[in-house]
Amino acid sequence: VRVAVVGATGAVGRQFVSILEERSFPVDELVLLASERSAGMRIPFRGRDLTVQALSDQGLGGVHLALLSAGGDVSRRMVPSAAESGTVCVDNSSAFRMHPDVPLVIPEVNGQVLDADPRPRIIANPNCTAIAVVMAVGPLHRVAGLTSLIVSSYQSVSGTGMKGVRELVEQVEKLHGQEEELSHPERGALPIGEVFPRTIAYNVIPQCDQFVDGWTIEERKLAAESRKILDLPELRVAATAVRVPVVVGHSVSIHATFSGPLSPADARRVLAEAPGIRLVDDPERGEYPTPLDVAGIDDVLVGRIRQPEGEPNTLLLFACDDNLRKGAALNAVQIAERLYAS
Ligand SMILES: NC(=O)c1ccc[n+]([C@@H]2O[C@H](COP(=O)([O-])OP(=O)(O)OC[C@H]3O[C@@H](n4cnc5c(N)ncnc54)[C@H](OP(=O)(O)O)[C@@H]3O)[C@@H](O)[C@H]2O)c1
Repeated sequence: VRVAVVGATGAVGRQFVSILEERSFPVDELVLLASERSAGMRIPFRGRDLTVQALSDQGLGGVHLALLSAGGDVSRRMVPSAAESGTVCVDNSSAFRMHPDVPLVIPEVNGQVLDADPRPRIIANPNCTAIAVVMAVGPLHRVAGLTSLIVSSYQSVSGTGMKGVRELVEQVEKLHGQEEELSHPERGALPIGEVFPRTIAYNVIPQCDQFVDGWTIEERKLAAESRKILDLPELRVAATAVRVPVVVGHSVSIHATFSGPLSPADARRVLAEAPGIRLVDDPERGEYPTPLDVAGIDDVLVGRIRQPEGEPNTLLLFACDDNLRKGAALNAVQIAERLYAS
């Protein structure tokens, strides 16, 4: 397969390159594309250094499979014409996720939509937080029928790309040695960068993306995408998305209600068997998911499974995914694997 990674120098793009290598995806030729800023940069793949090319010079002509993570504007510009010419485009941006003709896919949850005939040429990869939530509740929905979700997220700075990670690191360095002052900070003196609306070091920010009518775009995405992936247009979802000073790994606290009873023990049995999930649920022994435990691994970690007293249809769960791997590049490569396996 002649594969192009569009946005190859980014946080997600770099993961694409390593995951294609790790999983021995049948790549005959790999074309690495980014903006003109990084043309000429070299990225290792299968023991060789490949040169990054500027997307503007190259286009996607002759590419069988394009894995895109260069933002919505690039995807909107490139994807329709590339798909028209026969390139299968798996897109990580939000540009096509809610398009009625574009499947939004987590292979373990609704991978069957990829088997349609003719095969889709544009496939959208869901939002990284939606993936964590739907991976955790999807298997439970199959046995008990999900009716509502209340979610709070704790999202890492790499969710905004490499620039978000740089901003956190810079602020931590600036505040080094001022730990005492942080108990009564001089607000005007706190470092503010360009990515996050407030200081992210030693802080949490209940804003991911812009506000529209009181909700952030991230919160709306989480609701709309969960409904689409689970094929539950009536699902009630209320989300609060929060940015935290974690480098990699999104966490979600989930309050899920089902149409029938589901005990924590049954939920554990179901999740223990579910593909792509690792159950980490022995809190007395300190075993529960954390972002540092999920960073760099493929599975979504799920734990802290509890039932509120007198609510047999409701469960509380805590889950973490690596937002750059299962939340982005790994999920997209799994989509490609399913398309090319058939
Ligand atoms: N980070 C996550 O957790 C995550 C998860 C799911 C989906 N996504 C989505 O994936 C996309 C990329 O995210 P990221 O976190 O990897 O961002 P990032 O670290 O900022 O990387 C962006 C990549 O896009 C390239 N790029 C930007 N403008 C371009 C242009 N005009 N033409 C060609 N290439 C261009 C950049 O190239 P240069 O190096 O040349 O600037 C870089 O390779 C976004 O749509 C994001 O919403 C991200």
